[in-house]
Amino acid sequence: MRVLGIESSCDETGLAIYDANRGLLAHALHSQIALHAEYGGVVPELASRDHIRHILPLTRQVLAAAGCTLTDLDAIAHTEGPGLAGALLVGTGFAHALASALDIPIIGIHHLEGHLLSPLLSATPPAFPFIALLVSGGHTQIMRVDDIGQYTLLGDTLDDAAGEAFDKTAQLLGLGYPGGAALSALAERGDAARFRLPRPLLNSGDLNFSFSGLKTAVRRLVQQHTDHPPHADIAAAFQAAMVDILSIKTLTALKQSRCNRLVVAGGVGANRQLRERLLRDTGKSNATVHFPELEFCTDNGAMIALAGSLRLMRQRGQPAGAFSIRPRWELALVGKPEPTGTMEMTP
Ligand code: KG4
Ligand code: ZN
Repeated sequence: MRVLGIESSCDETGLAIYDANRGLLAHALHSQIALHAEYGGVVPELASRDHIRHILPLTRQVLAAAGCTLTDLDAIAHTEGPGLAGALLVGTGFAHALASALDIPIIGIHHLEGHLLSPLLSATPPAFPFIALLVSGGHTQIMRVDDIGQYTLLGDTLDDAAGEAFDKTAQLLGLGYPGGAALSALAERGDAARFRLPRPLLNSGDLNFSFSGLKTAVRRLVQQHTDHPPHADIAAAFQAAMVDILSIKTLTALKQSRCNRLVVAGGVGANRQLRERLLRDTGKSNATVHFPELEFCTDNGAMIALAGSLRLMRQRGQPAGAFSIRPRWELALVGKPEPTGTMEMTP
């Protein structure tokens, strides 16, 4: 079975073809970072229009790279939610039109399920169960993954996502958007001990996160040093706080769930300090940490094609036609009827 996967929930158009027997045949991605950079964040309307521009050329590209034609496809998987409504509509509408023309089944995938299963794309996939730390521009969650479809949310952010906190802090320090990587590079030159920033919710007794207070503390520091703001030292202090919070909570999740496998996904997983710390901490507690290839950590079509393929081995796809998108969709509600936030579309 060959599945075409389509991801368009935010600012990346991702297409991929996954073969149930041979694995990932091809994937292609267009990132909109440059498009949104001058606005300091994702502009939803521009995102939708850009998905429209790229979805067809990327489909042709993955078909050519996989040595397939449209008639070789057996099913289509697309991100149904959560995400930006207009952006989801582009991928979902395209998926239904194509599936209808080819008369093949279609399956809507939860974006976070794609992320959670993405480690299975790597050459050395982790076995179930594992704990997943999802740290991207849009999510910060700790999940327990027992099997396909068996996900337990252990911790979530109460405000900003980790990547969002990096990006907003980077903006305060005059770095571009998205500024996580630039902030991290600047922090390498700074003295992390010069300023002590708060670690919100570190001792909250649960696995939830809150980063907005940290960002406010950085703003105050910047305002206190208007003449020669010690940007590198502030960046280092911020990064140290983020790494502390993320790694301590994650290690607690591993201990509490008596699980000794950790997967780190999402763009913030590229952070060198976070990786080193998690490697060290898991090593001390006889756990292993798995960092999937970065191209599968950030948004991509391959994780949607894979999740679609795995789901279609267990359940039937739907006929193309009337469709829904779910801009707000809790992972726990996957498979349940009438989830909140559903937008029905009838052709
Ligand atoms: O997974 P991803 O592509 O997120 C979304 O699509 O939402 O990750 C993007 C996020 C951005 O917020 C970016 O600043 C952050 O990951 N990021 C980093 C690093 N590289 C990317 N944050 C900290 N350190 C890095 N090296
Ligand atoms: Zn994502």
